[in-house]
Amino acid sequence: MTTSRETILSIRNLTVTYKTRMGNLNAVDNLSLDLYKGEVLGLVGESGCGKSTLGKAIMRMILPPGQITSGEIWMDGRDLMKLNKKEMRDVRGNRIGMIFQDPMTSLNPVQRIDKHIIEAIQAHEPHVSKEEANQRAIELVERLGIGRKRLLDYPHQLSGGMRQRVMIALALALKAQVIIADEATTALDAIVEAKFLDLLRELKEEFGLTILMITHNIGIVAELADRVAVMYAGRIAELADVDTLFHAPKHPYTQGLLASVPNINMDSELYCMDGTPPNLISPPSGCRFHPRCPHVMDICREQHPPFIPQALDNGEQEVACWLYESATEQT
Ligand SMILES: Nc1ncnc2c1ncn2[C@@H]1O[C@H](COP(=O)(O)OP(=O)(O)OP(=O)(O)O)[C@@H](O)[C@H]1O
Ligand SMILES: [Mg+2]
Repeated sequence: MTTSRETILSIRNLTVTYKTRMGNLNAVDNLSLDLYKGEVLGLVGESGCGKSTLGKAIMRMILPPGQITSGEIWMDGRDLMKLNKKEMRDVRGNRIGMIFQDPMTSLNPVQRIDKHIIEAIQAHEPHVSKEEANQRAIELVERLGIGRKRLLDYPHQLSGGMRQRVMIALALALKAQVIIADEATTALDAIVEAKFLDLLRELKEEFGLTILMITHNIGIVAELADRVAVMYAGRIAELADVDTLFHAPKHPYTQGLLASVPNINMDSELYCMDGTPPNLISPPSGCRFHPRCPHVMDICREQHPPFIPQALDNGEQEVACWLYESATEQT
């Protein structure tokens, strides 16, 4: 599928640091990434590699002991890092919505579900009457498979999956242009998950929504994403359109990650990548993947590889790996 190459959000050299008793760790480390208008960009990587931190940093919702220590995030010709609190609140409501990994933390426990959605709609579209907002809330939750009666419940009365769908309804109610969905389907059963994915696909077509889809579920990425970014230890290891990434992964980490997924390589034995991601307080020198890499070379221990663009006939692929450096030098 072709996507427009108009950039809607541009992350440049972003670093997010958590200050812990054991030392400082950069959960996102000098990371740059563009989101194209109307695309679904899948963001994958093992637990702890910094995916949620990146999502929250885009929303400027990093809480202490975390802090955005450097970088820029450009949207609508403005660097979001430079906006004041009120301006940033507007961005959060009208431009970027986030569906959190843990929805309970962002719902008000003493407020009924309908009030959450109605208030969200009216805060951003003050001319909409309460009745109209209520009607929209009903349509939204019903599209997500929640009966209208559940709108009268409080968050704790819903199941985890229902709460997650309420978060999704809230993001959609705000008509955000960019939605950051952080493990948005983990608490959903298979049927609801399929419905949700259909809905996202519809909304993407209908409203040209741009979605940053953070997930461990490679199946969802295969089904929905246009491009995929693979993250490792706070950095992007590889970025490519979805077909290229699945059929011709270049980074040894991507290769290991995909080989560990059942169904993708049905023809080969299931592989389990050795080792675990590094402790980010004292990450390995050079390429952070080198201690686990089957192709490690001397340079990998010494210097971090730059992002090396790979020429492709269609699509695009960039890989942070020294294996491909010599190939670029020759061109
Ligand atoms: N509040 C915090 N204080 C200290 N360290 C933190 C905090 N939040 C996250 N981290 C650390 O930052 C790193 C990235 O965490 P993050 O939650 O962004 O990972 P993730 O990729 O979303 O993982 P998962 O797939 O498990 O959701 C981890 O090493 C984590 O331990
Ligand atoms: Mg996470």
